[in-house]
Amino acid sequence: MKVVGVSGSPRPKSNSSTIVKAALDELASKGAETELFEMAGMKIEGCSGCMYCKSKGKCVKNDDITKIIEAIFNADAVVLAAPIYFHKYNSQFRALIDRMYCLVKPDFSCALPAGKKAIVISTQGAPDENAFKGETEWLAETLSGYFKLNVIDKLVFVNGNDANAAAENKEFISKVKSAADKLL
Ligand SMILES: Cc1cc2nc3c(=O)[nH]c(=O)nc-3n(C[C@H](O)[C@H](O)[C@H](O)COP(=O)(O)O)c2cc1C
Repeated sequence: MKVVGVSGSPRPKSNSSTIVKAALDELASKGAETELFEMAGMKIEGCSGCMYCKSKGKCVKNDDITKIIEAIFNADAVVLAAPIYFHKYNSQFRALIDRMYCLVKPDFSCALPAGKKAIVISTQGAPDENAFKGETEWLAETLSGYFKLNVIDKLVFVNGNDANAAAENKEFISKVKSAADKLL
């Protein structure tokens, strides 16, 4: 089984990264083949809406997001984590989701093989885990609605301004590992 993890945080050391690594470590310990993508420092561009993909079946751009999309295409499961910036996912992570429009065919069916499993994790500074619930729900609905992913768990990490907070929160890391186990 191949599992791709994506940390959408632009911080070189981040909670998103710690969380995705914990999930991938858990899966690797149980025999999965894992691949980690950290968007921090990546060379990426947003979607320019040119619609090249609608006639050619692939994005006109070739950057690090191209590699992430290829890896997701070939994976059996994905783990996605990204921070909330002003009530929405950060722009680097949003660029990935927008660029995945190249996987949406002109008739709105999806080029991705259906049924890949997924877990999604939002990280935020605020302590109320329901404060940006709509954003986590939006991601899960986008992945299941457009990309036919089977989103099996959604987690929210709170009080995350300190980049080490997730690493120090054994209870949350244990939740992440339990969620990861459901991908197997
Ligand atoms: C530009 C910016 C905007 C942010 N906006 C919010 C926000 O609206 N609500 C919130 O709870 N945290 C907000 N945060 C805090 C991040 O969501 C929080 O630090 C998160 O845990 C970072 O995740 P990371 O460690 O994976 O980078 C913001 C941080 C930045 C840099």
